[in-house]
Amino acid sequence: KRIALITGGFTGEHVVSLKSAAVVERTIDRDSYDVFKILIYPNDWYHETSSGEKILVNLNDFSLTIEGEKITFDGIFNILHGSPGEDGKLAGYFDMLGLPYTTCDALTSAITMNKAYTKAIVKDIEELYVARSLQLFKNSEENREKILKELRLPLFIKPNSGGSSIGMSKVKEPNELKDALDRAFAEDSQVLVEEFVSGREFSIGVYHAKGKTTVLPATEIVSSKEFFDFEAKYSAGVTEEITPGRMSEEEVERVKRIIEKVYLRLNCKGAVRIDYFLEHETGKFYFIEINTVPGQTETSLISQQVRAIGMEVRDFYTELIEEMFL
Ligand code: DAL
Ligand code: MG
Repeated sequence: KRIALITGGFTGEHVVSLKSAAVVERTIDRDSYDVFKILIYPNDWYHETSSGEKILVNLNDFSLTIEGEKITFDGIFNILHGSPGEDGKLAGYFDMLGLPYTTCDALTSAITMNKAYTKAIVKDIEELYVARSLQLFKNSEENREKILKELRLPLFIKPNSGGSSIGMSKVKEPNELKDALDRAFAEDSQVLVEEFVSGREFSIGVYHAKGKTTVLPATEIVSSKEFFDFEAKYSAGVTEEITPGRMSEEEVERVKRIIEKVYLRLNCKGAVRIDYFLEHETGKFYFIEINTVPGQTETSLISQQVRAIGMEVRDFYTELIEEMFL
């Protein structure tokens, strides 16, 4: 089968996507799949041939014409983090062309790219808690006052549709708030302000294939930094990552129950990764966010989790690919 591996993107995460794509490209089963990497930038969608020739994508049917031969695809392996790969825009385009892809549909992708709307949907799930927060549409004095009146410090300030911690800050003192909001609003027109939850941090992969939903072992993130920021995410050794993370049997069972419900409630497809805290005092599960195109770089968590269940990452990719054709 012929697969288009899509990467690049319109956000600061495009560098991460390129790294993820490089890992997928060299890991994927080449005996079963003919893979064409396609880079997607705002005004430039192309494939680079082995001889370095840049072939533009024909947007009418997402095909390539190489040396006079028209190449069409059986399906799309989506490893494009952020817009337009993770927010539903490309999903809608591929739906219109009738091309299957490995990730969530347009609606789920669009909702889950928005952290505040996602929280509003999952917060009613039993045993799942969300941090108190405000969704801001404007960077104003009035909103700064509202934050300090309604929420308790420390706070996390995040671009509401961001990824990889880009534009994110932790605010411990009121005088840090303005700069943090400026940084987040520079990345996004909406900003999420959340109360800090004191707890152990985890991230857990879950995917559906071969007729069943598999919750992978969670990774515990022990950061020496204030939070799991861009550097900590993509530099080896900055963070201690423990897979499977240290959880009691009761916690493992409860987390699994919650994660299955989140996957189902949001109508997810393929592999997603959910970040959460277990609060220190109470052990309560606090949902942070869901990533519907999780990183596949050398330091990414999903591959660590796949290996932890004794599965080859190559076979994991095969399962994701075969699932999209069902
Ligand atoms: N947004 C990054 C790529 C992740 O969730 O892994
Ligand atoms: Mg994320």
